[in-house]
Amino acid sequence: MTKDTMTSVPVHVSMIMDGNGRWAKERGKERVYGHFEGVGSVRACVEASVEAGVKYLSLYAFSEENWNRPEAEVKTLMGLMVKAMADEMDDLDRNGVRFMVIGNRERLGEELNKVIDACMERTASNTTLTLIIFLSYSGKWDILQAAKKMVASVLSDPDSADDILDMDINGFDKYLATAGIPDPDLIVRTSGECRLSNYLLWQGAYSELLFVDTLWPDFRKEEFHKAIEYYSKRDRRYGKVK
Ligand code: IPE
Ligand code: IPE
Ligand code: MG
Repeated sequence: MTKDTMTSVPVHVSMIMDGNGRWAKERGKERVYGHFEGVGSVRACVEASVEAGVKYLSLYAFSEENWNRPEAEVKTLMGLMVKAMADEMDDLDRNGVRFMVIGNRERLGEELNKVIDACMERTASNTTLTLIIFLSYSGKWDILQAAKKMVASVLSDPDSADDILDMDINGFDKYLATAGIPDPDLIVRTSGECRLSNYLLWQGAYSELLFVDTLWPDFRKEEFHKAIEYYSKRDRRYGKVK
């Protein structure tokens, strides 16, 4: 499907990339094999987003809870992130993709933080697509860090208390780790699980949700375009009567 044939293209599509372990298990392989294969799906979704005219693609790559996985799997996943970012940086930049990472970066290693900074700086002025990787992220962590930022702001400048007390919903948005990024129009979760697993709890308040059985390593361009088609048929009412 191309831009012209669609009635309504979501501005921001978000993916909960799930099912890598099961994909590998089905093939009698180690779980990490599924994570490696999943990188191909990331590439496919980036390309499909550009084709469809989506402006923001965000990917839940590693949750705060995922730190509780076996040490070896966490280590492999972090190594994979470093490699994938280093390998893809040139292509992302050439294709006009702005790259961002959002999450609790204090928990990430030095090597990973360095490659993230390099990739973010290099692609900062690109405008075709913003690709956001949620890494060491959770929705509750985000809301908590926003609350802490507000307290810190009042402690350093007591006059800011009035602004905070007068603040509306949009004002709170500015304290979230996603400040400046539009809320996701569509959140897709792969692998048949129908839960948010602590993802974008505030920002996803009015997102359309799509749960598909496809395992993440099999979620390629065709599935992405199908998800966009599903979205274009939704009737978003925001509590009003139409
Ligand atoms: C998603 O696949 C990747 C991460 C959460 C890092 P999983 O590793 O959760 O795969 P399943 O759900 O066990 O199949
Ligand atoms: C959700 O997947 C997190 C990511 C996709 C990064 P999980 O596989 O960790 O979620 P649960 O444990 O099934 O809820
Ligand atoms: Mg999973």
